[in-house]
Amino acid sequence: MFTAFTAITGAFSVNGCDKTTDNTFIASQIANISDTVQQDFTIEDMNNLQDFLLAKSIKEDLSDNNYDLDNDGEWSVFDLCLMRQKVINTTEKDSDVLVVYFSRTGTTEVIADYIIDITGADVFEIEALVPYTDEDIQYSNSSCRANQEQNNKSVRPEIADTLENIEQYDTIFLGYPIWWGEEPRIIDTFLESYDFSGATVIPFCTSHSSGLIASEKNIKNLGFAYGELLNGRCFSSDSTREDVSDWLDTLPVSEKENEIKMNIEVNGHLLTATLADNSSAKAFAEIIKYEPLMIQMDDYANFEKVGRLPKNIPRNDEQIRTEAGDIILYQGNQVTIYYDENTWNFTRLGKIDNITQAELKDILGTGSVSVTFSLMS
Ligand SMILES: Cc1cc2nc3c(=O)[nH]c(=O)nc-3n(C[C@H](O)[C@H](O)[C@H](O)COP(=O)(O)O)c2cc1C
Repeated sequence: MFTAFTAITGAFSVNGCDKTTDNTFIASQIANISDTVQQDFTIEDMNNLQDFLLAKSIKEDLSDNNYDLDNDGEWSVFDLCLMRQKVINTTEKDSDVLVVYFSRTGTTEVIADYIIDITGADVFEIEALVPYTDEDIQYSNSSCRANQEQNNKSVRPEIADTLENIEQYDTIFLGYPIWWGEEPRIIDTFLESYDFSGATVIPFCTSHSSGLIASEKNIKNLGFAYGELLNGRCFSSDSTREDVSDWLDTLPVSEKENEIKMNIEVNGHLLTATLADNSSAKAFAEIIKYEPLMIQMDDYANFEKVGRLPKNIPRNDEQIRTEAGDIILYQGNQVTIYYDENTWNFTRLGKIDNITQAELKDILGTGSVSVTFSLMS
């Protein structure tokens, strides 16, 4: 019975439900699932599933919703789907990191998405109650809405939605575009609407060329309550995930949720390394998951130690300019530790944490060395 429930909830697991989905589509999905698991679903099955979902411990009390979550007077699969969405939102999204952003043309949103992806943060998008049209942000027109707002520091455009549970967050990344050298006034509305006294606030922005110093000053001067306000970072529209990841590495608060760490033992030293986020690094992690892997590694071309893997792993080759500490997969069957620069088409497996070139060279020494890789528990 539970397999069947899993199957039916799985069918609607794509970020919640689309209300435009018509009943015929839903009926066909149910029929498909029934075919797959050789079982027909009855209304009782649905009731059981809703009872199961209701029984989960969540912050919001759904018990009075009486199964009709979309209030259309009928109970349907769509209500079930809404319920599942609520349960997921309230039980699984318990990060203590939040990314809040305002983005009118999508550039800041890209950076926000990288931060969310890397840290596993929750998200709140600031949307104006009266949305900004293209004309509103036509800054060559001196009387456009954005320009008028930026010219008046006391304007506070209303925000469409309210953010709940602000107190659950220790770290809040705050993203916005630079408008006339400053934060859009709607950011001031946001900051003045909540109490951030338990949180570290970290601004980030995007712009054509301006930095974020003026906006940071403004934000400080608002006098809103925060635990700590860290210096932020301004990104351009061509910033990459790696740029964002490198910035997060410099922050004292960042926790990278999906990071895989490994230990590297060499010449009596224990180093730690962070594996890259690609299928090659995951395959390497699989090899060292249950028992450490010792590889004999030799110098090559005065820039790396290289040794053979016990088996081939997938390649994600790209043009990389190495630096000391890079761990690289070469031709799918050799692992290298770089202690100097090289540029080639190969795959990043990871990077040794917090080490200088001189320290690494000293530890690796010259000639053949035994290097043992093991996954950190
Ligand atoms: C009203 C307005 C004013 C702007 N002022 C500046 C500015 O002073 N300096 C700058 O480098 N870019 C400025 N820009 C460009 C935006 O900062 C840039 O396109 C930003 O990445 C847009 O972010 P978004 O796509 O998340 O809205 C301005 C854009 C608008 C709409």
